Amino acid sequence: MTIIRGATTVEADTPEEISGAVKELLDEIFRKNKLRKEEADGFLFSLTTDLHSRHPAKAARECGYDFAPLFACTEPETEGSLARCIRVMLFTERPAGSAVSHIYLRGARVLRKDISEIYNIALDGPAGSGKSTVARRLAEDYHILYLDTGAMYRACALKALREGIDPKDARAVGKMLDSLRLEIRYRDGSQHTVLDGEDVSEAIRKNEVSLAASAISAHKAVREKMVKMQRKIASDMSCVLDGRDIGSTVLPDAAFKFFITADSRVRAMRRMKELESRGQKVDFEALRKEIELRDKQDSEREFSPLKKAEDAVVIDTSEKGIEEVVAEIKSLIQSKI
Ligand code: DC
Repeated sequence: MTIIRGATTVEADTPEEISGAVKELLDEIFRKNKLRKEEADGFLFSLTTDLHSRHPAKAARECGYDFAPLFACTEPETEGSLARCIRVMLFTERPAGSAVSHIYLRGARVLRKDISEIYNIALDGPAGSGKSTVARRLAEDYHILYLDTGAMYRACALKALREGIDPKDARAVGKMLDSLRLEIRYRDGSQHTVLDGEDVSEAIRKNEVSLAASAISAHKAVREKMVKMQRKIASDMSCVLDGRDIGSTVLPDAAFKFFITADSRVRAMRRMKELESRGQKVDFEALRKEIELRDKQDSEREFSPLKKAEDAVVIDTSEKGIEEVVAEIKSLIQSKI
C-alpha cells in the first residue's frame, strides 16, 4: 500500500469553487501518477475550518471519483495555517515505497516548497504606491519570501553618504562597489539588510537616503551587482519582490507581474505618515516634490528604468485600501494558476 498526498486552495467558500478545486486536484493526481481507477483503495480528505459550503468527498463523488470509499473531516484550527485549504490522501495498491508524485496546487504549493516549482511574484511601481505593504502581505499569505529590492539600493546609498561620495559620481560609486559587502538576512520572517557587517535596516529608511538611493540606482555597475543578487535569491526560493524593474528586467519570466501605482499626492501622504510613525517630521509639499523628482529620476534613467512590464497587470491604489488590493491580486493570481 502506498499513499499519495495532495492539497489545493480555493479563493472563496462556494460549492462551485470547492467542486472545481477537488476535481482539478484528483485529475492531476491520477494524470501525473498514471493511476488507474482500480488502483485506488480510498480517499481521505481534510479541509480547513473556513470551508463549509461543500463536502469535498461529495464533490469528488459527483465528479466521477465514486469507485473507492471517500471520507472527509475538518482539520483543527491552527494559527498561521493556510486559509481555505483542502488536503487529500489517496490510498493505492501500489507497492509500499513506490515512487509517486504528490500534488500541491494553487496556494497549497507553498506547503511543499521541496516538491513544488519555484515561482516569483513581481511588484513594481513608484515610491509610496503601497507595493511594499502589499508584497509583505502576499508573502505572509503564501508563506514565501519577501525581498525588498529598494533596501539594497538604499544600502548602497547609505554607504556613499557615509563615505562622503556623491551618489551621482559614477566613477567614485564604481570604486566604492569593490568594497561593498551587502547581505540580505531573514530573522523572524522579516528582512534585515546588512551592510559591511552592520544591520542598517533602520538607517536606510531615513528620508535623506531615499533621494540618494534613487540617484545611485541609476548606475549600470550598481544595478548589475544588485540584480545579480536578486536573481540568485529568487532562483533559490519562491519570493515576492518589489522594486522598479523586477518584471521588466530582473525576472522577465516571473509567473505573476503587477504594476502598482497611485496619484503622487496620495503617495506623498502615505510616505509622510510612514516617516512620522518613525519619528521623522517632514513637510508635505516638500515630500510631494521629492516623490515626483524620484519618479522622474527612476523613470528616465538609462539602465532598467521604472517601467511597467508589457505583461504586468496595472493596479491603481489611489482609492483602494490594502485589503482590497491584496484580495484583487490574490484573485488574479488564483485565476492564472
Ligand atoms: O522602493 P524604495 O523607495 O525603497 O527604493 C529606493 C530607490 O531605489 C528608488 O528611488 C529607486 C531604486 N530602486 C530601483 O532602482 N530598482 C529597484 N528594483 C528598487 C529600487
